[in-house]
Amino acid sequence: MYSEILIEHFQNPRNVGTIENPDGYAKVDSPVCGDLMEIYIKVHDGKIQDIKYRTFGCAAAIASSSMATEMVKGQPLEVAEELTDQVVAEKLGGLPEAKIHCSVLAASALHAAIQDYYQKHPEARPVRADG
Ligand code: FES
Repeated sequence: MYSEILIEHFQNPRNVGTIENPDGYAKVDSPVCGDLMEIYIKVHDGKIQDIKYRTFGCAAAIASSSMATEMVKGQPLEVAEELTDQVVAEKLGGLPEAKIHCSVLAASALHAAIQDYYQKHPEARPVRADG
């Protein structure tokens, strides 16, 4: 049911843990299954310098968090904001239909942590041409 990549991330999840005094933080639960994810980010020069998470969820949620955090670590916030659950699922070699919401949880938590950062640092929010 799961790809080898997904199983590998589940067995050796990257970036698990917490960050003291994070620049951005979010705790999100899945409306589908009630599982929970916390994400912590440290931002430097507009980039995600460090990112950690704790996931109280299934194997697909753990692998999705691991993959998502790997993909955005060191990336500019604007790039991290664009990361979608579909891309995370693709990178994991696909997810069964019933497990799509697990990658949604990872992407939502990441986006919420970035929004938390912007809320605390409004001056860092990029000005968009479309207003
Ligand atoms: Fe809840 Fe996967 S079943 S996050």
